[in-house]
Amino acid sequence: MGDDGVRDLRAALAAHGQEGLLRFWDELDGAGRERLERDLRSLDLDLLDRLVETLVHGREEHLDMGGVEPVEPDPAPSPEAVAEGEDALARGAVAVVIVAGGQGTRLGFDGPKGCYPIGPVTDRSLFQIHCEKVAALGRRYGRTPPLYVMTSDDNHAATEAFFADHDRFGLEHVRLFRQGTMPAVDARSGTVLLAAPDRVALSPDGHGGTLRALRRNGCLDEMRERGIETIFYLQVDNPLVAVGDPGFVGAHRLAGAEVSSKVVRKTDPAEKVGVVAARDGRQLVIEYSDLPDRLAEQRRPDGGLAYAAGSIALHVFSHDFVERVAATADLPYHRALKRVSCVDERGRPVDPDEPNAIKFEQFIFDTLPLARRSLVLETSREGEFEPLKNAEGVSSPETVRARLSDAAADVLEAAGAVVSRTPEGAAAVPIELGPLVAADPAELARRIAPGTVVDGPFTLS
Ligand code: UTP
Repeated sequence: MGDDGVRDLRAALAAHGQEGLLRFWDELDGAGRERLERDLRSLDLDLLDRLVETLVHGREEHLDMGGVEPVEPDPAPSPEAVAEGEDALARGAVAVVIVAGGQGTRLGFDGPKGCYPIGPVTDRSLFQIHCEKVAALGRRYGRTPPLYVMTSDDNHAATEAFFADHDRFGLEHVRLFRQGTMPAVDARSGTVLLAAPDRVALSPDGHGGTLRALRRNGCLDEMRERGIETIFYLQVDNPLVAVGDPGFVGAHRLAGAEVSSKVVRKTDPAEKVGVVAARDGRQLVIEYSDLPDRLAEQRRPDGGLAYAAGSIALHVFSHDFVERVAATADLPYHRALKRVSCVDERGRPVDPDEPNAIKFEQFIFDTLPLARRSLVLETSREGEFEPLKNAEGVSSPETVRARLSDAAADVLEAAGAVVSRTPEGAAAVPIELGPLVAADPAELARRIAPGTVVDGPFTLS
């Protein structure tokens, strides 16, 4: 960049109180300058001003609850819905999108979270489990849905290498696409942090960035050319998802919905899960921190919680809706107070012990209020929701593996096996069924002798 270029950039940054980002400029070599300039030019300084004003210096606002009503989820898809979903799958009208761009800070795994070895017996990775479920759809319905995997700048190369090493798990069409980034700002001053003298502290822009990233990377156009009408969205950390569930897909389609959500029934008012609710005929997700106790504890006449539709980040979108929203709407940003490594005024690395920065993220569930029609379908927590979030305790490798074993035990018993159980009813031994086998009870029944006893580690692929 010539002197004029730096001057322009400096002036632009100064107009937004961010000129400190160039404080090491004179010390950088050519490559460093190029790198920093690229980062700086990716910043939307007007947007940043607004976010700093509202989310850093503004008062923390809680969602206005006026007019909010509970939503009662549909209990199960009808046979017509299942048939509709099967037809859409067989026509090749369904694509699967897995979002895997998160940083996985709580898990603390060295690598993309999708590569985490979670299979209770064979250490199958999260990616492999999801991919085999996509392959199973292909076997069953004759058309394998194209798979789109969202990555971030941090984990794109590692994710690509993992898919290449595993021959894309045999899938016909896998496309990785990168999500966008947002800068982290100092939690007190609102100035953008530098990760290094020549690098802005950028992080992924949240799973709400999915729609924009699909569009920017040409995935939406490609889907349209392939005849995709319906997009099945899941997050990489939950290996229990019934990927491409025809009942869910079909119920969404028959209802003419633009977004549909699977939910689990919330039974404890204090449970930290967002709920799907409604206002003015549109749906929205209320985060647990925004739901006043009075509403969280409200009961229906039958004693169940009124706000019981617990959101599990599992959605079906119509392709048209995603295109419209990606082109025309801006989802709101949320603030997240986090620890972010950076350099101080003099360029020395700082590894804070306490949260020092605000990150700005968009959330996928903020698409709900934009949808003219939405559907909410209930699923069972045991059957379909146990995300890998933490290194220990709740939602950790231990709980996820246990849940995978339990789910496999149920399938094996249905196929005639006798599975050893704990007094509480959980599988007493690690069990892993490859998704290609588990998806086909008839095949499973052929593969095991009637009365097969499962009382030690057991796997079938
Ligand atoms: P989480 O919000 O749980 O974040 O993401 P995380 O990255 O898994 O873990 P922490 O909070 O850093 O510990 C839920 C899902 O959304 C994806 C994640 O990959 C995960 O599948 N996600 C999240 C993205 O794809 N991009 C993002 O910017 C954020």
